Amino acid sequence: MKNPYVDQPTDRHPSLGVRSKEPLNAETPLELLAESLLTPNEIFYIRNHLPVPMRLSDDTYTLRVGGDGLKSRRLSLGDLKKRFKQHTIVATIQCTGNRRKDLMDSPSPKEIKGLKWEGSAIGTATWTGVLLRDVLIAAGIDESDPNIRHIRFEGHDEDITGSTYGASIPVSKAMDPRGDVLLAFEMNGKELSRDHGYPLRVLVPGVAACRSVKWLKSIEAHAEESESFWQQNDYKSFSPNVDWDNVDWTSSPAIQNMPVTSAITEPAPGRTHVVKRDGDDHLTVTVKGYAWSGGGNGIVRVDVSVDGGTTWQDATLKKIDQQPGRGWAWALWECEVEIPKGHTGPIDVVAKAMDESCNTQPERAEGIWNLRGVCCNTWPRIRLDISD
Ligand code: MTE
Repeated sequence: MKNPYVDQPTDRHPSLGVRSKEPLNAETPLELLAESLLTPNEIFYIRNHLPVPMRLSDDTYTLRVGGDGLKSRRLSLGDLKKRFKQHTIVATIQCTGNRRKDLMDSPSPKEIKGLKWEGSAIGTATWTGVLLRDVLIAAGIDESDPNIRHIRFEGHDEDITGSTYGASIPVSKAMDPRGDVLLAFEMNGKELSRDHGYPLRVLVPGVAACRSVKWLKSIEAHAEESESFWQQNDYKSFSPNVDWDNVDWTSSPAIQNMPVTSAITEPAPGRTHVVKRDGDDHLTVTVKGYAWSGGGNGIVRVDVSVDGGTTWQDATLKKIDQQPGRGWAWALWECEVEIPKGHTGPIDVVAKAMDESCNTQPERAEGIWNLRGVCCNTWPRIRLDISD
């Protein structure tokens, strides 16, 4: 049998933190993540479930549009670019399993299955494409039809049995004139790379990135969600009392909007950083990170604490100006954290973000532990060791 991984992209950046090789799953080096509001394409995280399909050609590529109540049609890339208005948005996408490591390292003895993503299966880019809404309207979608509830997407990537990656989003998000769901062909002003879905991908801002289907093959309007494994039996969250022996995948909805989260990127988590006081009574340490929330809820505040959350200091936010409710992009934050006078020895720094719907993050993992390790948004934590 032919090795399905023979023709994979060769332009992958050596600094990516590889979590699996075939298929490639790799994250941005954490220390580079909060360097710029837009993540450079070369180091943008990559999440592939299956082999990357052969490079599809610009000239022969077509997108199939169809399903309930839609005129069935095929659109070339040229048709999409010529016939529909082009839009550019800035949006963060985040893998549902981002920060899974923090749940895996929590005290629960139960098993989490999934890649051990640290904190950088997330990134922000400008995305250029046409609105999914416009394509659906041109195909004759009846917005008032109560039976059209989901828009399904299928990718060109397939497993050895020929089944393809797929996902769906609610029609309310797809048709929202301010929902900004794109069929995107450019990322940060450049043609999509093969790993990021060349020539066309869906970009669903504010929603778990597993719904932003790459190498887009078809779009269908439907009464039911996508039947794909990843919509039905993955990317769902459960109570901490559910484990691999008693999970009923039909009992929980597919994740769409993601919860508010934040991470500390500098100093790096996972090791203790020695800071010398050098006789200085007034000591501050620069702490940096990112914060993001789903559903278009922009970040309004990030607080940092060095006493386990009894008192908090405000971080300074750097962010792109976006309309309320359309806060698709993350905020980067920085705080000159004051170390209490006279303190020597270990000290933990924690952070939490708040979004424009006043959602904030849980302190501990125990309450949000789930068997797939998705939606981890506990307070991020780093350890300093203050020495004289
Ligand atoms: N689309 C297809 N066709 N196949 C995939 O494996 N992975 C999804 C989504 N779209 C995937 C896909 C997941 S889980 C994520 S997190 C994002 O793509 C990652 O997008 P990126 O690799 O461009 O960062």
